[in-house]
Amino acid sequence: MAASKPVEPQSGSGLPRWQLALLVGTPIVLGVGAVYLWNRSRAKEKQGKRNGERKTPEGSASPVQGQHGATNPELENLSPLDRAQSAKNKGNKYFKAGKYDHAIKCYTEAIGLCPKEKKGDLSTFYQNRAAAYEQQMKWTEVIQDCSQAVELNPRYVKALFRRAKALEKLDNKKECLEDVTAVCILEVFQNQQSMLLADKVLKQLGKEKAKEKYKNREPLMPSPQFIKSYFSSFTDDIISQPLQKGEKKDEDKDKEGEASEVKGSSGYLKAKQYMEEENYDKIISECTKEIESGGRYSAEALLLRATFYLLIGNATAAQPDLDRVINMNDASVKLRANALIKRGSMYMQQQQPQLSTQDFNMAAEIDHRNADVYHHRGQLKILLDQVEEAVGDFDECIKLRPDSALAQAQKCFALYRQAYTGNNPSQVQKAMDGFEDVIRRFPKCAEGYALYAQALTDQQQFGKADEMYDKCIELEPDNATTYVHKGLLQLQWKQDLEMGLELISKAIEIDNKCDFAYETMGTIEVQRGNLDKAIDMFNKAINLAKSEMEMAHLYSLCDAAYAQTEVAKKYGLKPPTL
Ligand SMILES: *[C@@H]1O[C@H](CO)[C@@H](O)[C@H](O)[C@H]1NC(C)=O
Ligand SMILES: *[C@@H]1O[C@H](CO)[C@@H](O)[C@H](O)[C@H]1NC(C)=O
Repeated sequence: MAASKPVEPQSGSGLPRWQLALLVGTPIVLGVGAVYLWNRSRAKEKQGKRNGERKTPEGSASPVQGQHGATNPELENLSPLDRAQSAKNKGNKYFKAGKYDHAIKCYTEAIGLCPKEKKGDLSTFYQNRAAAYEQQMKWTEVIQDCSQAVELNPRYVKALFRRAKALEKLDNKKECLEDVTAVCILEVFQNQQSMLLADKVLKQLGKEKAKEKYKNREPLMPSPQFIKSYFSSFTDDIISQPLQKGEKKDEDKDKEGEASEVKGSSGYLKAKQYMEEENYDKIISECTKEIESGGRYSAEALLLRATFYLLIGNATAAQPDLDRVINMNDASVKLRANALIKRGSMYMQQQQPQLSTQDFNMAAEIDHRNADVYHHRGQLKILLDQVEEAVGDFDECIKLRPDSALAQAQKCFALYRQAYTGNNPSQVQKAMDGFEDVIRRFPKCAEGYALYAQALTDQQQFGKADEMYDKCIELEPDNATTYVHKGLLQLQWKQDLEMGLELISKAIEIDNKCDFAYETMGTIEVQRGNLDKAIDMFNKAINLAKSEMEMAHLYSLCDAAYAQTEVAKKYGLKPPTL
């Protein structure tokens, strides 16, 4: 099935995109390797076939020509190349016996004997000696010999891969990445070993770069669509509710009309007012005023400020505020539970699932009738691949709040994924029927259509998936994510690049902070061989990344594209394009 799946959209887990960004930031499904090529399923069939093959030196299977020592007079009649071959064969024997010093001597002899114009043979001898050095963990020597081999034979996969491994040992990630990228291209992405090394190095590079960049980046407010979508996932939440009547100065003022002025000098109430006006940049400072003046809404202000710190991607600043709210025993239990959910999600984003689970469990303990707790814990369980527990939590949420369309849709998706990955066609059908039921009962829930569309795409029911995305767009015309998904569908369904790119451009037009759109476009440009454009897109996404983890992932994509441009320059190698 992955065959027809291009870039797996980041919401492959069925969680909304913003949720993923805040929870984990990184795609669950997409390995970085996918940026090299869409069609990885072909690789699967042949996976492992070549594994381990590289251990033995070149030509070790061939019968040994001269089984005699170099002193044997018979050898005198042999050509220099034959004598070199003979030395190599002897070396191979030593190699197999684990006598690497002896093997190295023989290979050195072979190199000395070999006529310079016999490039193929000579490169083999160097490569074999590198293999012996590798056994002795002499990485510098490995690199030197492999470089000789590659110079003689630029498309020598074994030598390139061996050099890549040695470069990795010496922590030279950049050059390692170039070599392994060349290997991947030469092997047409059919060898799992090299794909794994590429993936590993890309991830390490991405992590390092993101760590550096994330520290120094400017805080970035997400788009209003994103913020609204984020708050709409909390219903049992005081701070995201509109102002209560008594809190407004002018109670008669029409809600739709001009923003009403806020009573008194409460920073918190002002912040809430700004929320309604979507004037998000001022919220943190107003909350700070409330907190510093010890106002009556200090707890609320702390929670709201923490929420915005999370939204702008500053967990360091959010954590102490959340801690304070959680430890306020006299504060409303709803506030504390909400703070626990948010801290739990933050921990998940920081890859600390135990702390995360702890917070969610504590939230359920102190506020056991809070539907949000179960809804969000269910999402956590999905990320932890604990589908049954996730379904239990969604059920609890639905019991408490029967009108929770989102929980119903996500439960369906969890059941669908389980059936799909478990290869259970009757359960898949049941889950699909469940989706029909959800969209019938909650025709206004865009998420229901979106998740159904993902399942339909899996099932290759492209036409119907497309219809579902159209419904989403009808309901939420300013949700950029949907256009990206619809764009990806066009690629997969009709291989229609133009239309796919057009839809993704539309997404950027709607929300120029939609990092998912830039990322997807970058990935498509890689597939098309437009590496410079791809790098440009990835850099845009990097600047918009909502967490360090997400940024690391994007850096990996960017580095992968960059390595491909370097390889193209160096070896004239290009991966297959669309
Ligand atoms: C947009 O739609 C997707 C589903 O396609 C949903 O997950 C998300 O919450 C919506 N909102 C935003 C701001 O992405
Ligand atoms: C995050 O907040 C901390 C503490 O308030 C601050 O020192 C830091 O500069 C902020 N980082 C970013 C990236 O905004």
